[in-house]
Amino acid sequence: MSVHVQNTRMTTARLRQMKATGEKIAMLTSYDFTLASLVDEAGVEMILVGDSASNVVCGNQYTLPITVEEMIFLTKGVVRAAKHALVVCDMPFGSYQVSEEEAVRNAVKILKESGCDAVKIEGGEEVLPAISHMIRIGVPVMGHLGLTPQSVNQFGGYGLRAKEEAEAEKLLHDAQLLDQAGCFAITLEKIPAALAEKVTKAVSCPVIGIGAGNACDGQVLVLHDMLGLNQGFKPKFLRHFASLAEEVKTAVSSYVEAVKDSSFPSAEESY
Ligand code: KIV
Repeated sequence: MSVHVQNTRMTTARLRQMKATGEKIAMLTSYDFTLASLVDEAGVEMILVGDSASNVVCGNQYTLPITVEEMIFLTKGVVRAAKHALVVCDMPFGSYQVSEEEAVRNAVKILKESGCDAVKIEGGEEVLPAISHMIRIGVPVMGHLGLTPQSVNQFGGYGLRAKEEAEAEKLLHDAQLLDQAGCFAITLEKIPAALAEKVTKAVSCPVIGIGAGNACDGQVLVLHDMLGLNQGFKPKFLRHFASLAEEVKTAVSSYVEAVKDSSFPSAEESY
């Protein structure tokens, strides 16, 4: 199946239109110019510079250590690559929770210095004043509910969220608050598919799921996970669309062998 690649840049208005007409939205993470160029050319509507960069790029166990400056550095490369996709940068842990004023200042800094189109923030009612303030001054915000990895220490792990009625009700209420505040989209991570469907129908903005079933308006995955670069990670919701870890290792061991036996570089590869 061929994918129609938009000639123009994606906008939040177009994403809303896609929800209205039932056209699914594809989003992937990227953290560098080279891979973001390929992801953009292949036709995703949104690229997320996720704070999963803390794990994928920096090798940390959690998303918590990554800083605003590091997110800006990575996002600049992705922005240079994205000709069509809308680029969303995650606001890292600690950059929006301390005070509304600091949150807004950091959101403005991220938008100005990285050139991204929007920011993503984890949480509902607790962070609503900061989110509302950002939206009022013109910063497009994507919400993120369910399994919010920055709260891993509070949750005690990365298990399924909102299985119990009270948490499911809070999540639905939070989604409605984010929608009313003007979030242009909401990510739902690792929650029951039936709840994600209910939320998707209850809000006017597009809902992008990861481990949240098929009824969402779109899907997001971590690029390195779906490419099979991260062999140790295979939760139920993840599909490997390629097995690049094996390909990379095979290519690198062929290179090592060619260097060792002096077959690389050949005369044709020399000046
Ligand atoms: O940081 C990230 O990659 C994310 C996605 C998993 C949604 O937030």
